[in-house]
Amino acid sequence: MIKTVRDVELKGKRVLMRVDFNVPMKDGVVQDDTRITAALPTIRYILEQGARYLILMSHLGDPKKDMEKAKEKAAKEGKPFDEEKYLSGKHRLAPVAKHLSQLLGRPVKFAPSCIGPEAETMVKGLKDGEVLMLENTRFHPEETSKDEKVRSEFAKRLASYADLYVNDAFGTAHRAHASTVDVAKFLPAVGGFLMEKEVRYLEPLLKNPDKPFVAIIGGAKVSSKIGVLESLVNRCTTLVIGGGMAYTFLKSMGKKVGSSLVEEDHLGTAEKLLSLAKEKKVEVILPVDHVVASEFSDKAKPEYVDGVDIPDGKIGMDIGKKTLDLIRTRVKAAKNLVWNGPLGVFEFDAFAEGTRQVAIMVAECPGTTVVGGGDSVAAVNKFNLADKIDHVSTGGGASLEFLEGKTLPGIAVLQQK
Ligand code: 3PG
Repeated sequence: MIKTVRDVELKGKRVLMRVDFNVPMKDGVVQDDTRITAALPTIRYILEQGARYLILMSHLGDPKKDMEKAKEKAAKEGKPFDEEKYLSGKHRLAPVAKHLSQLLGRPVKFAPSCIGPEAETMVKGLKDGEVLMLENTRFHPEETSKDEKVRSEFAKRLASYADLYVNDAFGTAHRAHASTVDVAKFLPAVGGFLMEKEVRYLEPLLKNPDKPFVAIIGGAKVSSKIGVLESLVNRCTTLVIGGGMAYTFLKSMGKKVGSSLVEEDHLGTAEKLLSLAKEKKVEVILPVDHVVASEFSDKAKPEYVDGVDIPDGKIGMDIGKKTLDLIRTRVKAAKNLVWNGPLGVFEFDAFAEGTRQVAIMVAECPGTTVVGGGDSVAAVNKFNLADKIDHVSTGGGASLEFLEGKTLPGIAVLQQK
């Protein structure tokens, strides 16, 4: 079990805390502050315990990667591209610091770069009990460098601000970056309450969870869920496969899928997973009926297909009511349940019903329920059901990798109790 802020002396300590404030932004305004509110208990605790000061660091998108993409797009469209303007926009954490300050009800200072003379002066000038947020660590390529030496040099500079390193950034714990891993080489490293909570809910699902254990995995692509499916099939009682990836499974079984999304190069993967499930005596629920459309569009007219085969020219967009009934019986009896990925194109209202019904079932499930992954979390939020789920993970990729049974580097560097 990881050590947390509860296990160390905080009084008088200079604390450097990694948070995952990689939140959706639009025109300098935070669109969803779930990840910020999730870090508040740790932030408040550190301050209440009398830390000398608290410095927060995070990434927000990936300025370099995102800019390359935006540049390519502009070039394709024959539009001019202004690098400086682009970088002064959505990757800046100043609005996040302001938002945090409102939530905390106290000032949060902001350093316009995470290292360098200005940041160092600001750190030196911090008074007792003050909070300082550093600018996006990913403005510095050293943060994500593949060269450990380069990352370590950068991490050393960040570590020089503090006596203690706290990592509460579960959402970024699957990244071996300077601010998530290498800082721990220079400072005692413990987790925050969010990190602790994520591990508390996710870990039991890897270690002989009480059964029936129902796993509902959706999303567009099999290729992004292979690891988690392979892992879950070893532990769960029922595996529900929905969303776009269900059609690859159905096609691998020789069913007709019309013009639905299929990853042809993963038909073999789907077949292997199904035979693994058979070997492990795990029940697999795939759609037995569908809501389809003639085009992939939010204006498309939904049509019901009462059967597993989808007619030529039609695209599977959502699961049907018979499939939902099947899932419901298993969810009602579940002692443990994990859900990752939507069951249909839930961003289009006409095809959101399957995902909405599953969100309701999960909210009503008597067992312990865990929801992870950006889209399924967005779904429970959209349907206002988040507070009825035992644990809504703040990690997308991180929660998937955790459930795959991988060691997350940002957790591995934390001290153990
Ligand atoms: C996330 O949103 O999954 C985390 O913040 C990690 O972001 P990344 O995929 O850009 O590393």
